[in-house]
Formats: sequence, C-alpha cells, structure tokens
Amino acid sequence: MIRISIDSKQKPYEALIEQGILRSAGMYIRELLPDSKRVFTITVPRVRKHHAKALTASLRDVKIENHFIEMPDGERFKHMGTVEALASKLVKLGADRESTLVALGGGVVGDVTGFLAAIYMRGVKFVQIPTTFLSQIDSSVGAKTGVNLKEGKNLVGIFNQPEMVLIDPDVLLTLPAREFRSGLYEALKTGVIREARIFDFMESNHDRILKRDSAAMEWLIGECVRVKAGVVSADERERGLRRILNFGHTVGHALESETKYKHFLHGEAVAWGMIAAGLIALETKHTDRDTLERMVAAIKSYGRLPKVDVKARGVIRLLTRDKKTVNGKVHFVLPVKIGEVEVVADVPERAVMKAVDELRKM
Ligand SMILES: NC(=O)c1ccc[n+]([C@@H]2O[C@H](COP(=O)([O-])OP(=O)(O)OC[C@H]3O[C@@H](n4cnc5c(N)ncnc54)[C@H](O)[C@@H]3O)[C@@H](O)[C@H]2O)c1
Ligand SMILES: [Zn+2]
Repeated sequence: MIRISIDSKQKPYEALIEQGILRSAGMYIRELLPDSKRVFTITVPRVRKHHAKALTASLRDVKIENHFIEMPDGERFKHMGTVEALASKLVKLGADRESTLVALGGGVVGDVTGFLAAIYMRGVKFVQIPTTFLSQIDSSVGAKTGVNLKEGKNLVGIFNQPEMVLIDPDVLLTLPAREFRSGLYEALKTGVIREARIFDFMESNHDRILKRDSAAMEWLIGECVRVKAGVVSADERERGLRRILNFGHTVGHALESETKYKHFLHGEAVAWGMIAAGLIALETKHTDRDTLERMVAAIKSYGRLPKVDVKARGVIRLLTRDKKTVNGKVHFVLPVKIGEVEVVADVPERAVMKAVDELRKM
C-alpha cells in the first residue's frame, strides 16, 4: 500500500493507494470515523453498476449502513441544480450533521460531492473514492470542489478537504478506453512538470500501462499523487507553485471551449496544449528540440488524438477574453526539460499563433 499525506492548514489528510482497496474501504472508513453509523454514497448509474457491490459489502462488514444516491452522469450535470437535488434526497433519507458522504465516481462526482459536503447542514465529512484515472491522479487530491455555471466551468466552489482518499487501481479495468487514455496525458503532464521518472516509466512501460496492469498503475498513480500532493501542500490556494499544474491547460482549455466541449476529452485537449507549449518553448528558446520531440512521441504513443480544427485567431481571442494576455503578451507554463517547467510572463502572441497553426498540421 502507498500512503501519501497532503498537508493543509485546514485539515491534513491521506491518500491510500492499493490494488483492491475498494473491498476494504469500510475498514478504513471505520478506522477514521469510529462513530460513523451511516454513510451516503453519491455516484452515477454506470459506476454503481460496476463497483457498488464491493463497497456495500465492505461497509456491511464493519456495520456501517450505506445508502446510494445517484446523480445523472456527465459534465453537464455538474451544476447547482444537481447539488440541490442531492441535498433534498439527503434530507429525505434522514442524513444529519453526523452523516458522512462518500464520492464514488470520477471528477464530476468528486467535485459535486465535496461541494455538497461543504454546505449540507453547514458541513459534513466526506471521503473520496475516485474511479477514473484522471480523478485518481488529479481531482481527488487538492481539495478543490465546486460546480459549473452556464457562464463557465468551476465558477462556484470552495476548498474542502476530504477525510481521506481511497484509490483502487483495479476499478480502472471497467473504464472506457478513450476515457482512460485521456487521463494518461495528465500523467505525462505530471512527469514533464516535476518528475522525469514518471515520464521515463511511461515511455518504457507503454504496453503494461495500456493493459492497465495493476502493479504498474499502482506505481504510476502513487507517483502522480505524490507530485500533486507536494505541489498543493506547498501552495494550497493557488498563488504560485500550483500554477505549474496548468501546464498544457492554457491552449488546452481554449481548444475545449472553441469546440464547445464536444470534440476533445479534457486530457486530449491538454495533450495538444502540452505540444503547443513545447512548440512555443522551442520558438522562444526555453527548451531544445530533443525535449519537444520526446514529449510529442510519448503523447502520440498513447493513441491518436482528435484533430485540431480550430483557428489560431479563436484561441488568441479566448486568451484575451480570459485576461490571460497583457499588452499582447501571454502568461505560459513552458517546458525547459522533462521534469522541469518555467512560468513565463511574456510569450508573444505570434508565438502562440504559430504553435496553434502547427497543431492543425499534425
Ligand atoms: N477538483 C479538481 O482539482 C479537479 C481537477 C481536474 C479535473 N476536475 C474536474 O473533473 C471532472 C472530470 O472528471 P473525469 O474525467 O473523472 O470525468 P467524469 O467524472 O465525468 O467521468 C467520466 C466518465 O467515466 C465514467 N466512469 C467513472 N468511473 C468509471 C469506472 N471505473 N468504470 C466505468 N466508467 C466509469 C463516468 O460514468 C463518466 O461517464 C471535470 O468536471 C473537471 O472540472 C477537478
Ligand atoms: Zn487537467
């Protein structure tokens, strides 16, 4: 088992990573919350179908009563209406201030449940059991919770620490292939920004990873969570260091938004964004061709990305609108070498234009 502590001024917590941990989830919840009698597990139908049984059995073993509460599946349900509907269901089921919520699902379930836990009866405890690769290495650690408004993503929310995060690499076996690969690009990102050995491992264990081999996934998740934990522990509120996590996300978000979130999965857009950042870094002499080529090769080795059919002008317009540009200069996280990035404040717009034009040809 891998145990990783996440420091927090509000409340430190741990992530536990182990093959099959879902089947012992009850034991860990009991240990941490000795007085728990009832938990309420927020999930979506698809995850419930595959993984509810194991969780229910493990809670029954430690005499904790569990109620599943379903929310509809998909990013478009990550909004206030869902939070309100879930809160009403909690009341009807008799959840009180001593109740604990469990988030069993991907990043959407985790973000919604964490937010609901912060405001239900002015706050109840919650546990994260992330079931997508992206949520295991990224969203379940760092305490950001919240929902979207029709005006934009993640505009309402709060930092709220879970009691713990239980990560079972084996639940990934039921994840659709494209969804899984999309998370792998975020793992490559983690390698590039901070930990070259993650990147090396992903270069040389390609087949094991694509097969979702339990031991390989456990190691990879552990390393990625360790990096994320280190970064967010040092910068809980995203004032400095935490910005490096946005590597690949400036152009990535623009691509998602220009295609109305229909063309790319998040990780796929981030993969293109990393390549764009690499091209910009080469153009502005922050990195060398070898680093760029290694990044592109690793990304491409994990599957085909949907084509970029977005005008460079559109991307620049979005960066300007999101106030990411100042006097024609853009703030960017650029790769220096594998394992190291730099936050650069004065990337010229034309370097961004050129990079996006390159993406269209790849
Ligand atoms: N809080 C943060 O710090 C943070 C960081 C990154 C992303 N996010 C958020 O995370 C969300 C994306 O999360 P996601 O990529 O996990 O998407 P998701 O939660 O929508 O899950 C993707 C799909 O996978 C299915 N699924 C989940 N686990 C499964 C399993 N084990 N087997 C089969 N199917 C399964 C779900 O039903 C869903 O259809 C976004 O809303 C994003 O804003 C938050
Ligand atoms: Zn991301």
